[in-house]
Amino acid sequence: MGRIGIFFASETRNTAEVARLIQQHYLPAGTADVHDLEVADAAQVDAYESLIFGTSTMGCGNFSSTLEAFLPELDKVDLSGKTVALFGLGDQYGYPAEFCDALGLLYVELLRRNAYVIGSWPTAGYSYEASRADLGDGSFCGLVLDQDNQPQLTEHRLANWITAIQPSLLPGTPPIALQREASVRPMTPGNRRAA
Ligand SMILES: Cc1cc2nc3c(=O)[nH]c(=O)nc-3n(C[C@H](O)[C@H](O)[C@H](O)COP(=O)(O)O)c2cc1C
Repeated sequence: MGRIGIFFASETRNTAEVARLIQQHYLPAGTADVHDLEVADAAQVDAYESLIFGTSTMGCGNFSSTLEAFLPELDKVDLSGKTVALFGLGDQYGYPAEFCDALGLLYVELLRRNAYVIGSWPTAGYSYEASRADLGDGSFCGLVLDQDNQPQLTEHRLANWITAIQPSLLPGTPPIALQREASVRPMTPGNRRAA
C-alpha cells in the first residue's frame, strides 16, 4: 500500500484519468494508490495519513451523485490528523457561473471534518464569473484543471502543483524527474475512444 490515497469522483472519466496520471507519472513509484469513490469506503480513506481528493463538477454546480453518496462515509473517518490536497475539473466557458463548484463544496465538507487542507492554486490564467472553489484571495482551494478548454496547460499545472504539495504529503522524498510519457493528452471524446 502506498502512503498517499488518491480518491476521485468522475462521471466521464476525465478526473479518473488525472488521478491515474498523478499516481503513475507525477509521484514517486509506489507511493500512491488510486480509489474510485463510487466503490470506496471509510476504512480505505482512514488507512492513509495523506490524501488527495479529485472531483469534477457536473449538474450545474452541484456535487456529483458519487460524491454526495460518499459524504456519510467521510463522517466515519477522523480526518483531524490527515493532510489533504484537492483537485477539481470543470469547464470555465461552458459553466462560467459555477466553475468547479464541486471542488469548493468538497473543501467545505473537509474543513468541517477538521482535515488539514493544503495545495491552494492561483486563480490567474482562468476566465470565469463565479466559483465556489475561489477563496477570494487570488487562489482556488485546490488545483483547478479544465480539460474541455485548456488541456494543453494540464501537464504544467500538475507538475507545479505536485512539486508544491509533495513535501507535505510525502515528507523526505525527492521530487521525481518527469518523463516524456508524463504529458497529458487532450481528453477529447476521440482520445477516450482510442485509449
Ligand atoms: C451535464 C454536465 C454538467 C456540467 N456542469 C459543470 C459545472 O456546473 N461547472 C463546471 O465547472 N463544469 C461543469 N461541467 C464540465 C465537467 O466538469 C468537465 O467536463 C469535467 O472535465 C468532467 O470530468 P469527469 O469526466 O471526471 O466527470 C459539466 C459537464 C456536463 C456534461
